[in-house]
Amino acid sequence: SNFFALIPAAGSGSRMNSEVPKQYLALNNKPMIYHSINMLYHNQLIKSIFIVLASDDCDWIKYDWSEFSSKLIVLTCGGATRADSVLNGLTTAKLKGLIDTSDWILVHDAARPCLTSTLLEKLINELTQDEVGGLLAVPVSDTLKRSNLKSRVMQTESRENIWQAQTPQMFRYELLTKALQNAEKLHITDDASAIEALGFFPKLILSDTYNFKVTYPKDLALAELIIQQRIN
Ligand code: C5P
Repeated sequence: SNFFALIPAAGSGSRMNSEVPKQYLALNNKPMIYHSINMLYHNQLIKSIFIVLASDDCDWIKYDWSEFSSKLIVLTCGGATRADSVLNGLTTAKLKGLIDTSDWILVHDAARPCLTSTLLEKLINELTQDEVGGLLAVPVSDTLKRSNLKSRVMQTESRENIWQAQTPQMFRYELLTKALQNAEKLHITDDASAIEALGFFPKLILSDTYNFKVTYPKDLALAELIIQQRIN
């Protein structure tokens, strides 16, 4: 089986308070999604990268993507939720005959531009022989508080065995598609939770906090620093 990457990039990024969807915000003079594509592109095992855009996306065509043309496949079939965008992308790629049911799919957020080649290789190496698949994640380091609606602490939660899910998340086409179809009515925020809802146990692959999701405006400066400092 082959390896493919899929980047759902059909979100509006409402928490960013910006006119431009966040995947296009500038990071070291490139749109954020450029960095995510770049890392996936340079991994030898990844055969193609599917980009799922919203049908009303007006930003993608403003940039020159020709340096990635040997692997990049743009699909304009984004949905109402992240899960819909991933599912639409998978279904479209399959219909076009681009992927096989046993192929591995690495779903990666456009908004995680600080992924490294080391983490990507580790994820693939540790999961290739796995029955289910899994995801990059980091153990929670802060103490966790559960609050009431007035921001008063109701309880301190144990952080033992609690991880923060990142991407890429790597599952086979067949299982991932089935999971996302089943999850349509559930309120999921990542691919792994759809797999979990089917009763499977995705594997957590120890990642790095640097692979964080750019969510708020001030995250941009931190992401720029991490990318500039990178030695690999
Ligand atoms: O909003 P959030 O940061 O959780 O989005 C995660 C990723 O999912 C982003 O890359 C975003 O573009 C994508 N997304 C999507 N389609 C949606 C909503 C989000 O492709 N309807």
